[in-house]
Amino acid sequence: MEVGIPDNDVVEKEVIPQLLGADVVFLVSSLYYFGLNAQLKTVIDRFYDYNHELKNKKMIFMMAGYGTQEDMDAVKLHIEKLSSYMRWKMIDQIYVDD
Ligand SMILES: Cc1cc2nc3c(=O)[nH]c(=O)nc-3n(C[C@H](O)[C@H](O)[C@H](O)COP(=O)(O)O)c2cc1C
Repeated sequence: MEVGIPDNDVVEKEVIPQLLGADVVFLVSSLYYFGLNAQLKTVIDRFYDYNHELKNKKMIFMMAGYGTQEDMDAVKLHIEKLSSYMRWKMIDQIYVDD
């Protein structure tokens, strides 16, 4: 079964067009249960249809959480994998603890 994307879908209508035109992608998340928050993950999961068109950009990642740097280890690995997979050159990663 195929499901149509609603006309008012903000990711399709606004986020993806801006991403396609961007040189630098700035991803930001709070730390939720040792991972990315669902708001950012929901957008990342929409990259899939555009993987090829989105490649070769630069990226910056920023996160804050109440815990320690070690609490963000899984996110650090995830973001390195994402940057390598998307072929987005990492400019900087900022992890703010406590
Ligand atoms: C659902 C939820 C899960 C959280 N999980 C963690 C966590 O695993 N480790 C941590 O250090 N902080 C955790 N926090 C604290 C948040 O990272 C912190 O409060 C952050 O500043 C919240 O940002 P927000 O106001 O944009 O949601 C969590 C907060 C919420 C609401």
